[in-house]
Amino acid sequence: MKIQNLRCEYLENPFGIDETKPRLSWTLESERRGEIQTAYRILVASSQDVLDEGRGDLWDSGKVMGDASIHIEYDGSPLASRMACYWKVAAWDRNGEMSAFSSPTSFTLGLLDDSDWKASWIAMNPSFYESDEFKQDSPPPPWFRKAFELDNEIANAVVYVSARGIFELYANGERIGEDVFAPGWTDYNTRIQYRSYDVTSLMKRGANALGAVVGDGWYSGHIGWRRDRGYYGFVNSLLVQLEVTYTDGSKRVFASDRSWKCSHGPLKYSDFMDGEYYDARKEMPGWNSASFNDSTWKSAVIVDAPDAAIVSQPSEPVRATEELRPVSINEPQNGMYVVNLGRNIAGWVRLKVSGKKGTVITLRYGERLNPSGSVYTTNLRAAKVIDTYVLKGEGVEVFEPHFTFHGFQYIELIGLTEEPTKDTVTGVVLHSATPLAGSFECSDDMVNTLAENIDWGQRGNFLSVPTDCPQRDERLGWMGDAQIFVRTSTYNRDVAAFFTKWMVDVEDAQSSEGAFADFSPRVKNDTGNFEGAAGWGDAGIVVPWTLWRVYGDRRLIEKHYDAMGKWLDYMRSDNPDLIRRKSLNNNYGDWLSIKADTPKDLLATAYWAYDAKLLSEIAAELGLDDDAVKYKQLYSDVRAAFQREFVAEDGRVYPVGGDKVEAQGFDASGTDRKQGIGETQTNYVLALYMDLLPKELRAKAVDHLVRKIEECGWHLSTGFIGVRHLCPVLSEAGRNDVAYRLLLNDTFPSWGYSIKQGATTIWERWDGWTEDKGFQDPGMNSFNHYSLGSVGEWLYRYVAGIELDWNETAFKRFIIKPYTDTRLDYVKATYNSIHGPIGSAWKRSGDAFALNVEIPANTSAEIHVPVTGDAKVMESGNVAGESEGLSFVRREGGYEIYVAGAGDYRFEVK
Ligand code: BGC
Repeated sequence: MKIQNLRCEYLENPFGIDETKPRLSWTLESERRGEIQTAYRILVASSQDVLDEGRGDLWDSGKVMGDASIHIEYDGSPLASRMACYWKVAAWDRNGEMSAFSSPTSFTLGLLDDSDWKASWIAMNPSFYESDEFKQDSPPPPWFRKAFELDNEIANAVVYVSARGIFELYANGERIGEDVFAPGWTDYNTRIQYRSYDVTSLMKRGANALGAVVGDGWYSGHIGWRRDRGYYGFVNSLLVQLEVTYTDGSKRVFASDRSWKCSHGPLKYSDFMDGEYYDARKEMPGWNSASFNDSTWKSAVIVDAPDAAIVSQPSEPVRATEELRPVSINEPQNGMYVVNLGRNIAGWVRLKVSGKKGTVITLRYGERLNPSGSVYTTNLRAAKVIDTYVLKGEGVEVFEPHFTFHGFQYIELIGLTEEPTKDTVTGVVLHSATPLAGSFECSDDMVNTLAENIDWGQRGNFLSVPTDCPQRDERLGWMGDAQIFVRTSTYNRDVAAFFTKWMVDVEDAQSSEGAFADFSPRVKNDTGNFEGAAGWGDAGIVVPWTLWRVYGDRRLIEKHYDAMGKWLDYMRSDNPDLIRRKSLNNNYGDWLSIKADTPKDLLATAYWAYDAKLLSEIAAELGLDDDAVKYKQLYSDVRAAFQREFVAEDGRVYPVGGDKVEAQGFDASGTDRKQGIGETQTNYVLALYMDLLPKELRAKAVDHLVRKIEECGWHLSTGFIGVRHLCPVLSEAGRNDVAYRLLLNDTFPSWGYSIKQGATTIWERWDGWTEDKGFQDPGMNSFNHYSLGSVGEWLYRYVAGIELDWNETAFKRFIIKPYTDTRLDYVKATYNSIHGPIGSAWKRSGDAFALNVEIPANTSAEIHVPVTGDAKVMESGNVAGESEGLSFVRREGGYEIYVAGAGDYRFEVK
């Protein structure tokens, strides 16, 4: 048995954590079927040498019996600021044999106490503000530097850094770390993150220098959809503390203070929405090295420390994760070149050009093209999205922006003095560096593109927080989008740390009355009614519940438990009759459905019941039995109210006895808005998924749902909210055939339709562009919006059949149950769970059906093998029930069910 993937608080070798009881996890690998861990031993040492000697001077867990291999809480000597902890783990297998120790790994503590910070917050000398440049809408970002001497041999050097704004940090001319837009977005009024970097290798005895540039970012730049800036403040500031330990054990601290110098440089401005203006003629070669002459720089000033907690960032930073080469270059107008990267991304480009000093090159970005071949930018609204580079005229010049990003596939270049080649522009993909977790492939190319597009939608929008879109003036942490997509996102990438961090933003954004916001972090100047919306605020429960289910994270649900309870109280106080009609503010309903407006009170009440159900499960998990009973009761009371108000005797779901509602008609041309009774596909999807119907009406409701789909010519009409559960509900209810039909449609509206129009991400709207109408209203038409991609969850959970066991979390025990259909010949999926890699692959050839399953060591699964008639199930050549590691349970509903221990299994059905 081999031990792998050692993680601390979900991260590999995290550096600078705040957690004093960090949780450790690992995965196990074995060739042997049915392998389990029967015991483990963790050693945590204060140095690599001590660990190598096989000693855990900080913690030796001793031999702990049992199969726990995730979230093992550190239980050794108290951890203090700056401590480096080296650890490894050994495990005993099912025969009681001990494995070799894992490779060593580490975690390091950051600055735990306010008193650890000796640094002051520094900002630009105000005398600069008198110049005209500083009077423009976005002023030039401040540049800081500090030269200093190290008069001894260096054993270790660590720098801690934060900013109001986003920073790039340098030491002796070298960039420190690879983080982009650090320290990320939080509610800066409440909490500001810091980052820690080991800079030992960058420091040297003698003269040294640190340099930093602080861009506006979320703190002072344009964010959201209003044109004003400075939501959190206007003055960018920096906090740096460099701690050097010499080989003789003595220490020196170099902290930001008045002795730092500041200036402005080649960046005229840099803003998320507007873009970046970089004048290379103003570069200051060597500005971040010791020898630089900084006599024209001025002293930095100390500004007030924020009235906010300074916390270590618990999630992966934003990073450049991939580069794309152009697929084509056109010249739609004389001197205007348009480069196509082949797919819609969030990020920026690296520009490689040469030309005369002072040549101005502008880059504009867009997701689609106008009929003329120029870049379509109307959907960017007030976001200017233009980068400008002014050449210094010295050979080949390379430019990459610093503090902006764009959502784009096409780049328009103006001002080039030579014809561009495919080397002129490189696409750089930016997002929170969440590790890849899943892969999905099947026999249908369009579905493969869909799966890919869903992941690209995620990559384009998981940028510090889960945003709605990366291109226009919005890019907010919309909660509805996040809760609809969270489960899909877990299959694509390991988002545990990402959402752990975001849940803090969600709680920071909760109102004192208990309302969760519609987007988190909040932005200060919002008008106050962006809170409480059904399907949006509910993310405050759906997201942590999902993380607990998928990653087994009990600490997270414990931490946010009170906030979740407050949310339920908030709904109740204004809605005593248990129909959720009030305290909903900008209630969005089933946002962007196709002329099928789900009654908002129906949708809201369904979510209320669902929240109560999830919270009762959470309470039970936390051992809060009274609360579990209380919330279960609330669930059944709201459910009863739902049935009274919205369920007819014949199983139809709509506001029974209510007024007629507008906009229930559907036709593909999109012109027909007729009166109806408020009966939509989403009504049924929610009622069925959230278990709100009397048992005896469920089957009837399924028929009505199918009728509603048939009325739309076998198309969906769901918006953001309904779409997530549509296919899962159909598959569960015995109408997998209809779910596949929706999946494989390529006529409007469908996922396939956008793919036929060249989509490489998920569009905000089913009709973002149609043959008859062209572009939808540019007022709201993003081509990179992950919400409608929530079908990704169904691809993994149902089509591939990799599903959680409802009685277990974290895939410790899971279910493999593929919902197959003859329209696909094969499906091949993998999912790297917190317990290790799971695989499910099925294939049909002629009458034969094969299913390969991969179950990681120390887990088990219930495998449902699809069978028809009197087909026989074999596994690796044996009768399946007699095969090693497998036991037959029963035959049910078209499946033979087996329980299996760890291992690779090859089933054949003939
Ligand atoms: C955003 C959405 C968001 C919605 C609220 C839009 O402007 O782009 O994704 O959820 O507003 O309805």
